[in-house]
Amino acid sequence: MTHPILYYAAGACALAVLVPKLRARLRLSRAKHRSLAGHSRMARRFASLVPYYEYDAEHFFRADAAPDNVAAARRAGFMRLAAVFTERFRETADLTADIVDDVSDLQFTSRYRVPFQFSRFVREHLKAGVFLQSSSGVTVTDMDGNRFYDLTGSYGVNLFGYDFYKDCIARGSERVRDLGPVLGAYHPITTYNIRRLLEISGLDEISFHMSGTEAVMQAVRLARYHTGRGHLVRFCGAYHGWWGDVQPGVGNPIAQGETYTLQDMDDAAIKVLRTRSDIACVLVNPLQALHPNVSAPGDSTLVDSGRRAHFDRAGYSAWLGKLREACSERGIVLIFDEVFIGFRLGVGGAQAVQGEMKMPPPNMPAMPANWQGMVGEVEKALRVIGDKVRKVDESQLNTTVKFMTGPKQHGDLRRLDVLWFLLNDQIHHRGQFSVYLRMAGGKVPSIYGPSADEKWM
Ligand SMILES: Cc1ncc(COP(=O)(O)O)c(C=O)c1O
Repeated sequence: MTHPILYYAAGACALAVLVPKLRARLRLSRAKHRSLAGHSRMARRFASLVPYYEYDAEHFFRADAAPDNVAAARRAGFMRLAAVFTERFRETADLTADIVDDVSDLQFTSRYRVPFQFSRFVREHLKAGVFLQSSSGVTVTDMDGNRFYDLTGSYGVNLFGYDFYKDCIARGSERVRDLGPVLGAYHPITTYNIRRLLEISGLDEISFHMSGTEAVMQAVRLARYHTGRGHLVRFCGAYHGWWGDVQPGVGNPIAQGETYTLQDMDDAAIKVLRTRSDIACVLVNPLQALHPNVSAPGDSTLVDSGRRAHFDRAGYSAWLGKLREACSERGIVLIFDEVFIGFRLGVGGAQAVQGEMKMPPPNMPAMPANWQGMVGEVEKALRVIGDKVRKVDESQLNTTVKFMTGPKQHGDLRRLDVLWFLLNDQIHHRGQFSVYLRMAGGKVPSIYGPSADEKWM
């Protein structure tokens, strides 16, 4: 017979394994958003229970059980609008109707823009179209000659009005005309683009992609490869493209077991990052600062006016700082997805923005523990810079870089002049530093000239 103590020992071992697992699971549950958006499996199950239905002409105007006179007024107003659409968008709508059955994208977008119960009736009566024939300044013109102010500016990329970009495209295609559409190899002009992007952004490297989705996919894949871990963390409501791993939940039939959707601006999420060892990367869309834990407004959510955006800049910046710290501590790759905001927050992206959004750079050396360590770090940094400068040849030193030449103003300066300026600047700061030395009871060495502690004569 087995001794009971062996059962107790086996039970204790099982508990020792299970309790930490259970605790980690609970911690993860606490960090997920309480809504269905934070629980993709539950969201899918719930969606499968929602029956599909549509309102016909009879029920469309009284879906909220409105009295007859209100429903009649709604119908009259809607039909007047439908008549205007028919008259004003005839050619554009006809052209669209000709191809809609051949293009899956059009069938998709025309269906999701209006809540599904109302969609068919709206599609049948408010026929606009997807074709435009021209653009000018900040306006676009459809096939019927209707001219519109383009409030979306191509999802925000066309900041300078269309003519500016038409001119850029014409000049760009002229410059690469001799090579034409050769795929794979680079046109030499690419070197200029690469240098400019590096210079503007202050990044170490760049990589070209056909779309934001692919760029994010690649960043996540690299993070997974280099960390050897599988999971990615995204925050509730954030959009990172259309691929499955970042769109768990309704509409995605594959269970996204390797995606954790956590709460934005929440310490429970930081705790998960600090304690789990299966997380390769964290995806952050800094635009989320405007509506943490909620999706950005889309066609279907803009049908009422209940949306609000609020920007707690200091709070969101502090949260990003905490994320940075937790990720650095645990070797997790922090990916800022700035596909949408581009350079708008600052040329170096969200992490380089001065003020409250400022982040410690990821490669910041750890703070030295003592004075000796501090001196060692300074000497090391000087040595590294010195070695770099020694390797640069004369011709490179005579090329220019953008540098501050006045308040809020950048100009072209020779690299050699910038280095010379920085050397003088360092001497200047050492001079300033001496003031603090004296206040701390230290001796002030002679730098700009003799000091009381170090007289020259
Ligand atoms: C933050 C963010 N990431 C990724 C994407 C995906 O980019 P694309 O539509 O080019 O695939 C978008 C698109 O709007 C985005 O806003």
